[in-house]
Amino acid sequence: MSPQQPPSDHVTIFDTTLRDGEQSPGCSMNTAEKLEVAKSLVELGVDVIEAGFPIASPGDFEAVEKIAREFGDRATICGLSRCREADIDAAWNAVQHAERHRIHVFLATSAIHREHKLKMDKDAIVRTAVEMVSRAKSYCDDIEFSPEDAARTEFDFLCEVVERAIEAGATTINIPDTVGYAMPEQYGNVFRKLRESVPNIGGVTLSTHCHNDLGLAVANSLAAVEAGARQIECTINGLGERAGNASLEEVVMALRTRQDYFGLETGINSKKLCPISHLVSSITGMKIQRNKAIVGQNAFAHEAGIHQHGVLQERSTYEIIRPEDVGYVGTNLVLGKHSGRHAFRDRVKELGHELDDETLQKVFDDFIALADKKKEVFDSDIVALVENRRGSQPERWTIVSVHTLAGSGTVPTATVKLQDKNGDVYCDAGIGDGPIHAVFKATERITGLSARLEDYQVRSVSGGKDALAEVLVEISIHGRHFHGKAISTDTIEASAKAFLNALNKADTSGQPPIHPQRQAEALATP
Ligand code: KIV
Ligand code: ZN
Repeated sequence: MSPQQPPSDHVTIFDTTLRDGEQSPGCSMNTAEKLEVAKSLVELGVDVIEAGFPIASPGDFEAVEKIAREFGDRATICGLSRCREADIDAAWNAVQHAERHRIHVFLATSAIHREHKLKMDKDAIVRTAVEMVSRAKSYCDDIEFSPEDAARTEFDFLCEVVERAIEAGATTINIPDTVGYAMPEQYGNVFRKLRESVPNIGGVTLSTHCHNDLGLAVANSLAAVEAGARQIECTINGLGERAGNASLEEVVMALRTRQDYFGLETGINSKKLCPISHLVSSITGMKIQRNKAIVGQNAFAHEAGIHQHGVLQERSTYEIIRPEDVGYVGTNLVLGKHSGRHAFRDRVKELGHELDDETLQKVFDDFIALADKKKEVFDSDIVALVENRRGSQPERWTIVSVHTLAGSGTVPTATVKLQDKNGDVYCDAGIGDGPIHAVFKATERITGLSARLEDYQVRSVSGGKDALAEVLVEISIHGRHFHGKAISTDTIEASAKAFLNALNKADTSGQPPIHPQRQAEALATP
């Protein structure tokens, strides 16, 4: 392609939930969780998965390598790298196992970053970028180069760096608005002018990477696409540093809904957008704002009578997207306890979830147990049951029983019995400001782990006084954060399970326990 030729109609969706998204405070994921998200990203149909920053830690490296081995034939697996030899080598070592692999090299180019962060002059920046892109190119063909803080870089210098990076072998040039400073028209013009000014730009893909500090990440990404960019870097739910990155579901649905305007397509299966949004939210503990576009709980709710009337007459009066096209799950009453396994499996599928037989059986058993407790089971209950079982790993501790005593005039007390993975059962008691606090104290005494509770959220999955409660907790131990989630019709039980789920993650993270000797006594070995 030369600068004059129009770019293709396909927009590459580059998902960076597992890298830039994971950098957002409190959103770190363990390897099993990253693999689960990667699997859903592949099912969603993203073209490129930026799976992590392999040099950052052995855990990051392991996750990128596993994702490369498992999913590298269905999406391009990309590893991030600073302009350092060791970074590039680590990125290559991690992604090489993917059939489709990419190394993403970045170096800041703006005056502010050159002077204050890198303390390098322009020549040194160009030299380093060329050397490191060439090194990456010696490993693989598919190389992306990002001049970090490009949106605030002097335009002539940006052209020089981009031209030299392409000469050295870059096949994708990404133009990050690292601090979310650009305005849509201005950002679009950077792409237009780059296409006019850089002589060798015709053969490469131009990419957008926008942060949302001024709430413009999606608008800026779309402006760049209008100006010729053909890759969008984005994250599920707009997760990412500070105010986040461009939200994948929003850019994808903007391109699809306004096909008449953009004339472009992506390979995304939009019906999977709500399921993956919920998955990422439950793994990271980052709640989705109710009125969030596309995936928020209220995204398709019509409150005003005049709107409801219009929608009943003709949906398109007030609906520009059909809820079912993004896999939106309402609160339809679905199945009862007499519904068979077949009907249940079909409904799970319609809701956008594909489960293997073993997991399906577990979720079905949970459904029957729930239908016994609760009069009406809704779609949202089924989604909660599926998410509760999906990818669940064998955990070190499981709950045998929880008893609490609370009420005015009593000291809230809890007795908790846990089983470890050897089958030994331990019991202890705790007191607290309330029954949930007491449960957490008793659990800490048994596990020997002492955690700070950073966040605790409870929500009802559907309507009705007998609704399932979903509890999300965030704990920190020695400054490291872990999320836990659980559901139950009993809020105290859900809280106990969510807290234990977070402690189990801390326990397998190599974090030394504060009290290495458990206080509790083994009661029995079943
Ligand atoms: O925001 C940014 O500049 C980045 C780069 C590493 C691409 O995340
Ligand atoms: Zn970024």
